[in-house]
Amino acid sequence: MSDRIHTLSGYFYEYQKSVTEPESFWARIADSFHWKKRWDKVLKWDFEGPNVRWFVNGKLNITENIFEKNLFAYGDRTAIIWEPSEPGEDVRKISYKELYHSVCQFSNALKSKGIQKGDRVIIYMPMIPEAAIAMLACARIGAIHSVVFAGFSANALTDRIIDSGAKAILTSDGNYRGNKKIGIKAIVDEALEKSAVETVIVCQRTGQDVTMKAGRDYWWHEVIVGEKDSNVAEEMDSEDPLFILYTSGSTGKPKGVVHSTAGYMVYTKYTFENVFQYSPGDVYWCTADIGWITGHSYIVYGPLLAGATTLMFEGVPTYPDPGRFWAVIEKHKVNQFYTAPTAIRALQAYGTDPIAPYNLDSLKVLGSVGEPINEEAWRWYYNHIGQSRCPIVDTWWQTETGGILVSPIAGITPTKPAFATLPLPGIQLAIVDPEGNELTGNSVEGNLCVKYPWPSMIRTLWGDHARCKETYFSTYKGMYFTGDGVKRDHDGYYRILGRVDDVINVSGHRMGTAEVENAINEHPLVIESAVVGYPHEVKGQGIYAYVICDMAHRTEENLINEIKETVSKIIGPIAKPDKIQIVSGLPKTRSGKIMRRILRKVAEGSTDNMGDTSTLLDPDVVTKIIEGRK
Ligand code: WTA
Repeated sequence: MSDRIHTLSGYFYEYQKSVTEPESFWARIADSFHWKKRWDKVLKWDFEGPNVRWFVNGKLNITENIFEKNLFAYGDRTAIIWEPSEPGEDVRKISYKELYHSVCQFSNALKSKGIQKGDRVIIYMPMIPEAAIAMLACARIGAIHSVVFAGFSANALTDRIIDSGAKAILTSDGNYRGNKKIGIKAIVDEALEKSAVETVIVCQRTGQDVTMKAGRDYWWHEVIVGEKDSNVAEEMDSEDPLFILYTSGSTGKPKGVVHSTAGYMVYTKYTFENVFQYSPGDVYWCTADIGWITGHSYIVYGPLLAGATTLMFEGVPTYPDPGRFWAVIEKHKVNQFYTAPTAIRALQAYGTDPIAPYNLDSLKVLGSVGEPINEEAWRWYYNHIGQSRCPIVDTWWQTETGGILVSPIAGITPTKPAFATLPLPGIQLAIVDPEGNELTGNSVEGNLCVKYPWPSMIRTLWGDHARCKETYFSTYKGMYFTGDGVKRDHDGYYRILGRVDDVINVSGHRMGTAEVENAINEHPLVIESAVVGYPHEVKGQGIYAYVICDMAHRTEENLINEIKETVSKIIGPIAKPDKIQIVSGLPKTRSGKIMRRILRKVAEGSTDNMGDTSTLLDPDVVTKIIEGRK
């Protein structure tokens, strides 16, 4: 715990050191981990390649840093508390020692099925402890896991199986969603009609019927029989990939963000302990799904590396009623609670009645992640959940950054509603204007970049390094470009303004507009479409689609429903447009480029000033679109 920041001056001191002597700063932090072989050099980098290597030539295994290093000290401590979807079902509490044995045993089973270091393994599972065991078992043997959110469709899963070249899929029979059972294995089967893996391992959760293909599909509880519950962790290089996580970008195809082993390990533990001010014995709860980066870094790796007790919740915030989160906090005496603005706004809509029956006195720290939190939601969260005494850490980061980059240190950095406040140690931000000039000083607004490497940053996009360079390192020379707009106020505090590219953030889920357009265009009667985000009270942003169709034999209503179904099938229900407007034409420039600025304005409902439309091929299109607005 020597790397803990305890005071505001301590934060400024550490920050200063991390900038003036980054290598000795990170070497000091990294020295508290267990290395099979210490590194030769802390950092080698250029953002041209990009080529970033941390803890060069170090050898380690991340799971040894969770288990072997600590089992003697706290093997009996609870690592995972699992709260099932159904409140009446038994809670599971898994100690570090038990988790260690389960991870070893399952990793031995993976090896028996021929899975080796470097192989890609897809994890498509509900929020059950076995999902974390699956991730850690892969890490144990050096297989690269790629968790796919279990809400994605078969089609989206197929794309990820093919792109990653996965050898195996770890899944479950089904998943509980409120009082419904959703077939998960059936989706895997469908995905495997258009792709192939050697092995599928199925964990039993709902007990529903599944089809098992002989020679390919195995039950989890059967493959572990006879496997030893210990082994020697595979020796990994610092820069060996730990996992791939697919995320959306401005083009249609999802990007496989690659994170490497040592830097990710060092940074997630360091930020977890500091941002949340976690103390041993605390119960920490992050409500994200392990299918997203937040689940990777701040349900599984960060907390477990820090010896924390991490709560995993299988259900949804409104089942069986909108008091569920508060009931779980009371039941497990949660100390740190980390959720998304969209969940806060959704629960805020029910008022304070659902909170009243519960005792929330255990809470010490509240967190927010995934999208900008509006001031109103911030205040509601602060007053009603935190009882005006718990600091809120508004944590800004991305799949690509691996860990939190901008956030208050709980209880130490003075907060301001809707501000992510200050960069964490090691994070050198730059705000740039459209030409790439850095805007120095306070009271400036522009695009957010990072100008120096940090340990958990993206290394490449799986199979496409050129795209990695182009997406993140080419817009502004010598800098990592985040895709977010930002304001630095008169106090030097950062406020994230949202995406400046063609990515929208729906309920904290990142979605590429091109990806949604591609899905819409799969409908046989669709000729062309354009998708934009618009402000949505609960979701942050909603999806607004303008579609040109061949209306033959359809009512508009039928067509709209069919298009929604198509998107649900191609990507998943999370990508279903909230509004679809059938149009006869789209506003295009003479060179054929869609003017999204106009479409965004119409979707927002701010149609009085459309700006300059003289460059449009057919300015009448705009009038028609405004008339037909949903
Ligand atoms: C947005 C989630 C404002 C931002 C960890 C970023 C935020 C994108 C915040 C990454 C925040 C995340 N305030 N905006 N505290 N946190 N974002 O990859 O636009 O799912 O670029 O990672 O979410 O989303 P991702």
